[in-house]
This record gives sequence, C-alpha cells and structure tokens, in this order.
Amino acid sequence: MGRDSAAHNNASFGGLQRVRVMIRPLMSTPTITLGIETSCDETGVALFSSEKGLIGHALHSQVDLHAVYGGVVPEIASRDHVRMLLPLIQQLMETAGIDKPDAIAYTAGPGLVGALMVGGGMANGLGLAWNCPVVAVHHMEGHLLAPMLEENPPDYPFLALLVSGGHTMLIAVRRLGDYELLGTTLDDAAGEAFDKTAKLLGLGYPGGPLLAALAEAGDDTAYPFPRPMLNKPTLDFSFSGLKTAVMLEVRKAEARGDLADCRADIAASFQRAAVDTLVGKAIKAAESQGLNRIVVAGGVGANRLLRSEIAERFSGQVFYPRFEFCTDNGAMIAVAGAMRLSEAGDATEIRALARWSLETLGVPPAS
Ligand code: KG4
Ligand code: ZN
Repeated sequence: MGRDSAAHNNASFGGLQRVRVMIRPLMSTPTITLGIETSCDETGVALFSSEKGLIGHALHSQVDLHAVYGGVVPEIASRDHVRMLLPLIQQLMETAGIDKPDAIAYTAGPGLVGALMVGGGMANGLGLAWNCPVVAVHHMEGHLLAPMLEENPPDYPFLALLVSGGHTMLIAVRRLGDYELLGTTLDDAAGEAFDKTAKLLGLGYPGGPLLAALAEAGDDTAYPFPRPMLNKPTLDFSFSGLKTAVMLEVRKAEARGDLADCRADIAASFQRAAVDTLVGKAIKAAESQGLNRIVVAGGVGANRLLRSEIAERFSGQVFYPRFEFCTDNGAMIAVAGAMRLSEAGDATEIRALARWSLETLGVPPAS
C-alpha cells in the first residue's frame, strides 16, 4: 500500500527543513500490520489483519543468555535482537504467505534504548523498502491492549492493572489513548518484587514464574508478610517493605540452617501478600471510578493466583490476554499499531525512549 499524504507538517531541525508526512487513517481498508517488539529481552514479531485478527506471531526469548548474569544485560540484549530480528520476520512472513505488510508497528519505548533502536531501525528501514507507514507504539499501551487479541475483548471504559517487570500501574482507560494514571509503585515494580524475592530464595531468572511454581508446594499462611499500603486510601503501591520482610525471614532460616525446608512456604506467603495487595488496590480503583471491567496485563498477569483471586473477588468482568501474550510479544504491538495507524509517520524518524508517560499519548486523530 502506498503512502497517502493527508497533511504536511514542517519541522525545522538545526536549520534543515524536514517535511513530515501524516498518513490518512487506513482502518477502513483491509490492512495487515507487522508488529515488532524489542524493548527488553524478547524479540517478538507478529502479523495482525484488520479483517482476520492475528495471522501469525513468533518469539525468540533471550532468557538463557541473561540467566547466567541474574538479570538483563542491555548490550547483550541489543546484540541478540540484531541477530534474531530479521530472520524472525522472514520466517513469520513466509509462514503466513505474506510478501509485504501494509504497515509496520514497533515498540518505541519505554525500554532499553539500545534494544529499542534495533526494532526502530529495522521498522523504519523496512518501511522505506516497502513504502509503507511506520507506527511508533508505547510498550505499556501494547500490554493494555493485548486482551483485544482475544475472542471476547473488553469494551471501553475499563480499569487496567498493568503489572510487568518495570511497571505497576492502575489506569482508567476511557477509550484508545484516553488514559488516567490512578496509582503506581513508589519503589519496585510488581515483577521486580517477584524477581528479587526469587533471587533471595536462590531461584533463577526471571524469578516470577519460578517463584509461582515453588509457591504451589507451600503454605501461604506460614508467614504473615505485610500487605503494603493496602489499607491506606492511596492507590499507589510499595513493595520494598514486603521485600525486606522476606529477606529477614530468609536470613533467619539461613541462620537456623533450615532454609531448604522453608523456601516453598516463604514463596507462597510472599505471593499471597503481593497478590492480595494488587487485587485489593485494583478493585478499589475500579470501584472509585465506577468501572465494572478490569483488564489485567503485563508479565505478572500470567500469575495464576492473581488471575483467580481477582476473578473471585471482583463483582464485574475481568479480562486478560492469553498467557503467552502477558509477557512481552509482537502481537500486542501489532494490534496497538493497527489501532493507532492514523498516527503513522513517514519512515524517517526512529523513536527510542527509555521513559515515556502513558498519559501523554492522547487520543489518535482518527477516533
Ligand atoms: O511484561 P514483561 O514480560 O516484561 C516487562 O515489560 O517488564 O514482564 C516480565 C515480568 C518479570 O518480572 C517476570 O518475573 C514476571 O513478569 N512474571 C511473573 C510470572 N510470569 C512472568 N510474575 C509472577 N508470576 C508469573 N507467573
Ligand atoms: Zn512488557
């Protein structure tokens, strides 16, 4: 599909005139969007059709590369995205029988800048080669729109509980781009709290799923860990006190020499405290806004206890992406890009933002 100039927006850069071409909304015509995700340690690609929905996706996880270091090493992440991204796109397009998409969406932030630049550079290079529009997508908007890939997607408005390795946010979502941040973490993100606790218990990286698996064998009432800020009126979170409480119990068990016997109980009690806090605040936020739908998304959204607790305790409807689309993936970027296609730019600007507020996105011009 050719580029369709709807408006010209001239910007001056150091004496140079640069012409930005705005793309007319394409959603009225059938459109296939290629999504590219490279913000952290997963190389994700996907094809989303405005008619058929998701028509293919592929993911390469770098977990094994980073595991030996106990966390993500940014330089290794960037290099591996360079190595894997193009072959993954080629394989995806061949499998789906698509020669070229109509648009490309890539994660422009927040994330590791070097890693983001690999996806942004590739997206813009392919956009030039294929002469198609390129959309810069906010990673957390991708997470919060991931349930739109499912058979029974939520209607607006809804409350989004976004829980990932880098973020913990409660957002009132009134429509695409109309986001109000109601609460966030004052210290560690929810996924970070899972990962750090897992590390204390001698589990590998990423710790969240390993801790959840260990917790299954434990007694979640064994340790009365704090539910941080649960009974305060604020909708903000803080996980550092919980982390410290876990650390003290681990040290005590080490001193007694019985940590091996206590690990599962500590994991289960931590998970229960973290989930109680997330669920309690999310329900409070939804009720305070009069919202009867909650979307749970982001890596920690894959936690089974979190899913079952919120479904049991919330009187409204709860929506999640399927498990594989809770953690980082290309499909959520493809669908978010397709929904924001009216904002596509020409393939000249690579955006890579380490920090980017979700509230600054705004409603796209076409909606
Ligand atoms: O969304 P995501 O893939 O990456 C970021 O954008 O950060 O989230 C990764 C986080 C990690 O902290 C990981 O430990 C956590 O999600 N996670 C889980 C589970 N699966 C992934 N935490 C708790 N329970 C799980 N089942
Ligand atoms: Zn993420």
